[in-house]
Amino acid sequence: MPVPTPHIEAKEGDFARTVLMPGDPLRSKYIAENFLENPVLVNNVRGVQGYTGTYKGKRISVMASGMGQPAIGIYSYELFNFYNVEQIIRVGSCGSIDKDLHVRDIILAQAACTNGNYASQYGLPGTFAPIADFELLRKAVDVCEEKGVRYKVGNIFSSDMFYDDMDSGLVWAKMGVLGVEMESAALYCNAARAGKKALCICTVSDSFLYPEENTTAEERQNSFTAMMEIALEIA
Ligand code: HPA
Repeated sequence: MPVPTPHIEAKEGDFARTVLMPGDPLRSKYIAENFLENPVLVNNVRGVQGYTGTYKGKRISVMASGMGQPAIGIYSYELFNFYNVEQIIRVGSCGSIDKDLHVRDIILAQAACTNGNYASQYGLPGTFAPIADFELLRKAVDVCEEKGVRYKVGNIFSSDMFYDDMDSGLVWAKMGVLGVEMESAALYCNAARAGKKALCICTVSDSFLYPEENTTAEERQNSFTAMMEIALEIA
């Protein structure tokens, strides 16, 4: 498909090979303005702002995914397949379902379970297990160790429901799953299908086990510096 695409108005070459992908368009702007040098706005279709700039001399883009697997499915597909993007690092938030993880801790999503239907499109004769790119994951672990941040590597659950009538999030904890969010499984599927790389880094914004620790929307937008620095270092 030629560019621009149905959801991205950028021109060929406007995106760097690496794209950081928060869920929230405001956080995309915040990252561009606070972490990138000379950021240029390359997309604003539907207010989904995408910027390209540099970090320590490396060309890097940042664009929001919106919420949920259908949304990140669209943006990551178009970036991987039509804009020659090689790696997408999701910098998101999640709810923790693990007793060792507290608000502001970091989850590196080695793999993603889901209740969504995204992988059914491939017509596979079994169940696909969406996993992170190992090199990105290994580098992220190294940066977490160097920085001394609290982190855990493991499985995450990408749910299609934020408001879940069955309140099923915590059930995944019995399988050792660390947190609940809404995007990683689709991102990992698209990366696998395109032969590209992806990693999801999530800051714990709320805990199913320690609800008194939960952060506000404003804190979520501004206080995730450690996660962004990890993503920028490994990019
Ligand atoms: N559920 C789903 N997605 C989320 C959550 C949650 O509790 N917290 C942050 N993203």
